[in-house]
Order: sequence, then C-alpha cells, then structure tokens
Amino acid sequence: EKGGYEHFMLKEIYEQPRSIHDCMRGRIYPEQGKVQLGGLKEYTEKLKNVDRIIIVACGTSWHAGLVGEYLIEEYARIPVEVEYASEFRYRNPIISEKDLVIAISQSGETADTMAAIELAKEKGATIFGICNVVGASIPRITHAGVYTHAGPEIGVASTKAFTAQVTVLTLIAFYTAQQRGTITQSKLIEYLTELNTIPQLVEQALQVNNHVHAIAQKFKDSANCLFLGRGSSFPVALEGALKLKEISYIHAEGYPAAEMKHGPIALIDEDMPVVVIATKHSSYEKVISNIQEVKARGGHIIAIVSEGDKEVREMADYVIEIPQVSEPFVPLLATIPLQLLAYHIAVMRGCNVDQPRNLAKSVTVE
Ligand code: F6R
Repeated sequence: EKGGYEHFMLKEIYEQPRSIHDCMRGRIYPEQGKVQLGGLKEYTEKLKNVDRIIIVACGTSWHAGLVGEYLIEEYARIPVEVEYASEFRYRNPIISEKDLVIAISQSGETADTMAAIELAKEKGATIFGICNVVGASIPRITHAGVYTHAGPEIGVASTKAFTAQVTVLTLIAFYTAQQRGTITQSKLIEYLTELNTIPQLVEQALQVNNHVHAIAQKFKDSANCLFLGRGSSFPVALEGALKLKEISYIHAEGYPAAEMKHGPIALIDEDMPVVVIATKHSSYEKVISNIQEVKARGGHIIAIVSEGDKEVREMADYVIEIPQVSEPFVPLLATIPLQLLAYHIAVMRGCNVDQPRNLAKSVTVE
C-alpha cells in the first residue's frame, strides 16, 4: 500500500508530478490559451465582476490560500483577503452578497472551515470550495467548486494536497485574469505552456532527495529553525516551517525575510539553521541582503536557489537547486525540497512521520 516507500508521506511527496498532472488534466489547453473549470462555469460572471475575494481555510490549506492571494491579485487584479476560518467565524466579519468566498480544505470536513462557510452563506456571499475528498461535507455546502484530484492523502502532514491546492488556485487566477482581460492572450499561452511542464519539473526537483538527506543529517539535532521567503515564497516558508514542526517536533517559524530584522534576528547564532527561498525572481537581490544579515551573525544558511545560481552559492552553507521557472510557478517547486527536508529530519529523529503525536488528519471539532 505504501508502494515500496517507507512512509505514506514519502510516497505522497513522490506522487506530486502525477497529482499535479491529474489536477490540471482537462482543465488547461495551452495552444488555445484556454483554462476550463467545469465546476465554476456557471459563476464566470461572478468571477469577472466581483470586487473582493475572501479565502478561508486552516493550516496548510491556509498557506495555499496565501499563495492564491498573491496569484489572484497579481494576475486577476482582484483584492483578496486570506482568513483563518477559526478567526473569521467568531469576529462578526463584514461580508455581503457581493463577496466571493473560497474555502480550501483537503479533507472537506474541517469544522472551523465549515462554520466559516455557513456564516458567509447566511450573509449572502457566493461560496466556492477547493477540496480533495470527493463528496465530503464542504463540497456539499458550497455553491460551486473545483476538486484538487490529488488522490487519497494518508500521511497526516499534507504534501500533495497542498501542491494540488496551489495548482487549482493558479488555474483560478489565470481563468479569472482571462475573463477580466487583465492578462494578454500571448502571456496566458506562455504561462499555460509552462504550467503544462510543471509535473516534469517537479520530478526533476525531487532528484535533490539524496542531497537533502545529507543536509538533514547536519541539522537534525537543532532545537529551532527559521524559514524565510518574500512574495509568494513567504507562504512557502510558512509551509516549510509547519512541515518541520509538526513531524519532527523541532520548533520552526516562517517569516517574510524582511521582517527578520524586526525581531527574530535576535535568535540567530551558530546553532540556528535558516532556510531561505532565494530563487532568481523579483526579490532576489533583497533576499541576498537578508542572507548577508544572517551570515554576519553566524547563522547557517540553507538556500533554495534556481538551477545554476552562483551568487547565493558563495554565501550559503548549503544550496538546494530547483529548476528555473517563471514567478507564478515558484511555490510549486520550492515546496518540494522543504517537504523532503522535514521528512528526513523527522525520520532521523525517530518520529512517527505519518502519524505525528496529537494530530488528526481530519479536524472535525473546533
Ligand atoms: C498540516 C495539515 C493541517 C491541515 C489543516 C486543514 O500538514 O495537514 O494543517 O492543513 O488541519 O485541513 P483541511 O485541509 O482538511 O481542511
């Protein structure tokens, strides 16, 4: 059942080229520059005219929502707010029939997310779901939705469901952008053509596994770990930190790289590994200065870089390369080595990676 892998989590990490492919199948037509989302078809006008989108979710799904915020705002130019479902539901949120709420949930059963949906529905909002488990409770209470089609996720730590959620949000961002005319047809064709190659590039990204294993060996006894990123790599940093803390029980925090100097920099010393997402994109130079700040204080840098990078390699203690991709696709690739890092560290520490203590796969109580 684990397909020859030692744990479900590792199997599910390795399934990602397939699950991302399954998630896109029948939904993108690169040559025609077309995105087709059957589940949202009747709500195309809503997407085209909506003034604001609110994303509600918990945990890893909330991190996917933050990536979605970046993608939808960047390409469809609609303001997006991302809310923890548990906070949203208890703070008398300002919401009306004009709003569109997107609820993201792997299991489709999370109690807080369900309650947030019910509340928004009462106030007249339109609700979309992004779920993995077909026929679960959330898809039944939403007006429309898109399944992630990642297949059953058994490991408690979410891996392939996260990348599938990000894939669906990418499709929604491009679809909406096309409808609203905020992306040119030629740019869309270019992006969809590239998106079509992402499963292969994820396969390539997985080849760092042995290298990541060796890095894990160096840092497995750390008490703390910091993850930094900017732009859409910030939620990837949050997700990397969550993976590490939930399965290895190492205290980890994700931060926007520039926020480091407003507090967490005080923690940095020789015993503090700092994982930095430093790919060659819009904030590359800024992230390089953040790396220098860490190095100046004796911190150890593990950098996720674009293939062929030289500048960061000179500063960082360890680099992990991912294939060079356009900016919207960085989260899908940068997540891979972070999942592997958390996995190997947890195994080396003797933790039960598939069933971490105190955690349940489906959180049906608030
Ligand atoms: C972390 C993890 C949790 C879930 C959260 C929401 O790896 O799996 O943080 O993401 O409990 O669950 P769903 O997506 O089922 O609503």
